[in-house]
Amino acid sequence: MAEAADTFDVELVDLAEVGLPLFDEPNHPIAQDYTHSHTIAWSETIARGDAFAIVHPECDHSYSAALKNALDYLHVGWNYKPVGFVSYGGVASGARAQAALKPVVAGLRMTQAVGSVLVPFVGQFIDEESRFVPNEQLELGAAGLLAESARLETALRQLRAPAIG
Ligand SMILES: Cc1cc2nc3c(=O)[nH]c(=O)nc-3n(C[C@H](O)[C@H](O)[C@H](O)COP(=O)(O)O)c2cc1C
Repeated sequence: MAEAADTFDVELVDLAEVGLPLFDEPNHPIAQDYTHSHTIAWSETIARGDAFAIVHPECDHSYSAALKNALDYLHVGWNYKPVGFVSYGGVASGARAQAALKPVVAGLRMTQAVGSVLVPFVGQFIDEESRFVPNEQLELGAAGLLAESARLETALRQLRAPAIG
């Protein structure tokens, strides 16, 4: 959907493919003094992004450990960029996970696009060929999220240059 909207050039990043180990850098990420090739590669991936849509499940009333780990690895690369949440799960649709994620991205100096997308009982939107098929309500939500992310990105761009440490 983000690709079809043509608002941003879209790069899909799958944390399962990135395969970051549990945070193993000796220095605080704010120093950008990375010692591992996986951290350098991850920082380059995130530096390419002007805005992020985080697609995440809800696990035990919060977001996943893998997501927290991926966020913790970096600091400056996240700074002053918009972030939107697209969550999925059971009856709660990931709403509790989104609430838990909000102070984390604020700590990384990201600005949340408020029009988030919540997918309840995600299995009902998966077809026989394992494709996600959204309903009209989800499509509208995603369109709003993209539009708000674009507005925020234009405003936040000024704060990113020059990057702060
Ligand atoms: C350990 C575990 C805990 C879960 N906790 C919640 C939860 O608190 N709320 C919810 O809505 N769904 C919960 N779920 C359902 C997941 O959000 C759902 O199965 C989701 O599809 C898992 O993401 P994945 O398919 O990307 O692995 C949980 C699933 C697992 C495996």
